[in-house]
Amino acid sequence: MSSLHDISWADYSALSIEGKVPLLARPDGMPFHTLFAQQFGRKELDRICDLATKIRFIAKSRDGMDFLQGLLSHKRAMIYFTQPSSRTFLSFLSACQILGIKTGEVRDAAVSSEFKGESREDSIRTFSSYFDLIIMRTQEKGLAERMAHALSQSDRPVPIINAGSGKDQHPTQALLDIYTLNRSFEKKGGLANRTVMYVGDLARGRTVRSLSNLLTNYEGMRHVFVAPPQLQIGDDIVAMLKARGNEVVLSDDMRAWLPRVDAVYMTRIQDEWDATKGESARIDTSRFKIGAAEMALMGANAILMHPLPRRDEISTDCDSDPRAKYWRQMRNGMWVRTALIAATFDCDDMILAWRSRQ
Ligand code: NCD
Repeated sequence: MSSLHDISWADYSALSIEGKVPLLARPDGMPFHTLFAQQFGRKELDRICDLATKIRFIAKSRDGMDFLQGLLSHKRAMIYFTQPSSRTFLSFLSACQILGIKTGEVRDAAVSSEFKGESREDSIRTFSSYFDLIIMRTQEKGLAERMAHALSQSDRPVPIINAGSGKDQHPTQALLDIYTLNRSFEKKGGLANRTVMYVGDLARGRTVRSLSNLLTNYEGMRHVFVAPPQLQIGDDIVAMLKARGNEVVLSDDMRAWLPRVDAVYMTRIQDEWDATKGESARIDTSRFKIGAAEMALMGANAILMHPLPRRDEISTDCDSDPRAKYWRQMRNGMWVRTALIAATFDCDDMILAWRSRQ
């Protein structure tokens, strides 16, 4: 199988996503570079979820933690985040710590040599000289892909994990969302034939784009996108979902849909992308918020999710409702990212085979 090493950037970037996926995979189908959600088919998703569950279990005991921390103690990771982050940053940091990986970090391009005019390619190449894994979050769409290509052409092709790029992709958030959905419906008939409603800024939120993509790996899914018209989901996502046989509904009536959905995925207004200051503030978003009255409309088995950070789209009154899963979702992020890193370095079989000595 050919890889990113064997193809020019011009030829690679002309490929469709489906054409790109095999170039980024290891022979077992797991990603080498994790750049976009489409790299995960059902087999890979099941593998990551099983691994995350096993890691959660192993990490409960000291014996288990000692085992996990020995797995990648010879590796170092660079966490390179030039866009704000708390959860994603800390969960990746924790994931590295669980696996014994030492970390370095740059969280502000102003303190790196980019400030002196160094290109991103040179910065990444520099990181790869010292580290064995680069986890990156950037403002720029497609940058992680460009960097992965540059590294694959170099003599130190270390893996890159995209921890959020521009408005387009957030593959590891989608993995933890899938894990949360799977766990929530595990004893209630599983994650198939479900209706997921996404609410908020669907035009600029990358989490919804990546998650809706991954959900096409499950049978009979229906996606309901609820937003003010200016913030509605992109046509590209609607076309992709329909092409995969999923049902798609666009609406601006959250309350009408609340009683009919299995999962509600709330998002905040992404006003950092406003072209002119105050642009988002002029949009009426008052009907896209959830409080106790809206929770009362949701089904008893439905769940409420949010990638966080939240503003006022979910009232804190909802936090103690057992259907609110966003805190659990956040912790799941740590386990899923640990699973992904372990799989990236081929430790998955060892983890799945682990048995306690007690
Ligand atoms: C999201 C992001 O950065 O895209 N946050 C996260 O990673 N949990 C969502 C957001 O910022 O609204």
